[in-house]
Amino acid sequence: MKGKFIVFEGIDGSGKTTQINELSKWLIGTDLIPENNKLVITREPGGTKLGKSIRSLLLDTSRETPPDSITELLLYAADRSQHVNEIIRPTLEKGDWVISDRFCGSTLAYQGYGRNLDINLIKDLEAIATQGIAPDITFLLDIPIEESIRRRINRKDDRIEKEGREFLSNVSLGFQALSEDSNWKKISAIKAKEKIISEIKSEIKKLLKNK
Ligand code: TMP
Repeated sequence: MKGKFIVFEGIDGSGKTTQINELSKWLIGTDLIPENNKLVITREPGGTKLGKSIRSLLLDTSRETPPDSITELLLYAADRSQHVNEIIRPTLEKGDWVISDRFCGSTLAYQGYGRNLDINLIKDLEAIATQGIAPDITFLLDIPIEESIRRRINRKDDRIEKEGREFLSNVSLGFQALSEDSNWKKISAIKAKEKIISEIKSEIKKLLKNK
């Protein structure tokens, strides 16, 4: 692919939105993205129009019957397939860059480690949904679960955030395991946001030097 694909992962409250905004402001002001190319910021679930409907099926707390675990997994995969085909692949093919708030790592962490669904089944679905599209780099913004709970205290939890401490702790363990991969960079996200963004910038510069 001509463009670069950057993903941010982490448990809820890890500060992904803030860091994505900071990174995009910085990238737009540099010449790292080739002239005539642009930067697209997106997210999962809900990066497409269809995905927004899937997001509400997944996360609304008002539904009488919430999706069972496998239905939940399939809905995240459906959202991803649409997202890859409608936004991510065409953008990267043009040489534009994509930053996504969440991608396949979230499904492995939440549905795999959190819901205890079969990791191989999740990987098979990932292959179907992504058709070989993979991030150039995934940042894990790492915070302790107590910090996640503290930061969300005044926010209304969505259906997944309502799952409670044990679920969140398993998801966090999942992210720790995933971040061992060489394409992932784990960054402690409890320090000042200026320090976090400066680590992210230096990883992006390294990425461009090595490829
Ligand atoms: P967000 O609030 O960060 O947009 O994420 C939506 C919620 O969906 C969040 O609690 C994580 C969860 N999620 C999964 O459980 N599996 C997935 O594959 C994705 C992308 C998100």
